[in-house]
Amino acid sequence: MSNFVELCRLDVVPVEGAGIFSVNERSLIVMRLDTQRVQVYLNRCPHLGVPLNWDDNVLDPDGAFIQCSTHGALFERDTGLCVLGPCRDDSLWSIESRIEGGAVLVDADELPPAGGGFY
Ligand code: FES
Repeated sequence: MSNFVELCRLDVVPVEGAGIFSVNERSLIVMRLDTQRVQVYLNRCPHLGVPLNWDDNVLDPDGAFIQCSTHGALFERDTGLCVLGPCRDDSLWSIESRIEGGAVLVDADELPPAGGGFY
């Protein structure tokens, strides 16, 4: 069973850019892969379990990878796989999403429960 809720409007995330939004007290990263595709991840580095971002940015200087602000691990934008850094070969926690009516929806049932050290 799924429980899709609105995370954000699609047009607030620039094409090929990223945004950080919250739902049910969980911080999520929306990667806009192109005009009609997004990938959503829990904003949590698999290395130490801390948020990936500094300020509102989660991308490396070239915008080619998601980058952890703590130790600089790099993650593929479309798969969440860590390709460089202390958590190499681990992956970001992907959350099922879909685009509907100009909004990005996520399955709230896939989010980790409150507490437990999750951001
Ligand atoms: S906490 Fe993210 S790379 Fe160490």
